[in-house]
Amino acid sequence: MRFNNFLIVIYFISLTLAHILQAQNSHQDYVNAHNAIRAHVGVGSITWNYSVAAYAQNYADQRRGDCDLDHSMGPYGENLAEGYGNLNGVDAVKMWVSEKPNYDYASNSCVGDLVLALHSVVWRKSTQLGCGRVKCQNGWWFVICAYYPTGNIEGERPY
Ligand SMILES: *[C@@H]1O[C@H](CO)[C@@H](O)[C@H](O)[C@H]1NC(C)=O
Repeated sequence: MRFNNFLIVIYFISLTLAHILQAQNSHQDYVNAHNAIRAHVGVGSITWNYSVAAYAQNYADQRRGDCDLDHSMGPYGENLAEGYGNLNGVDAVKMWVSEKPNYDYASNSCVGDLVLALHSVVWRKSTQLGCGRVKCQNGWWFVICAYYPTGNIEGERPY
């Protein structure tokens, strides 16, 4: 299944995240960005998992040549982003979270757009993540976060 196209669009939002985040890519930056929105919707925090992160970075490295937003089809939940300039990890999380206005919790359905990336970020049962980032040969940055256990189970609510 392909649901990548909407991730290509880069737009910036001012959510609760915006003011606490600087342009950074450390493990803690990714974790904090996720936990800010998770706390906002009442979901427990997520922690860094080094083996998941190794998987994510390895996959990012494979995309260095083409920078395609293709999912790895691996064992984890997964979000992808890319952008020109200096897209950092926190920017990527913001892109995913910016889908929130499109989600209607009451009906567990999307309003106008896909919300799969958002759901990975706030999936209650996904308690660990690992992310990777690479500068592609075309100058764009590619960012991936992988989630364990996998979320986005059809028919379940994220939280
Ligand atoms: C990290 O994730 C793997 C799944 O790839 C899991 O088997 C392992 O238990 C996790 N590590 C920790 C410390 O929970």
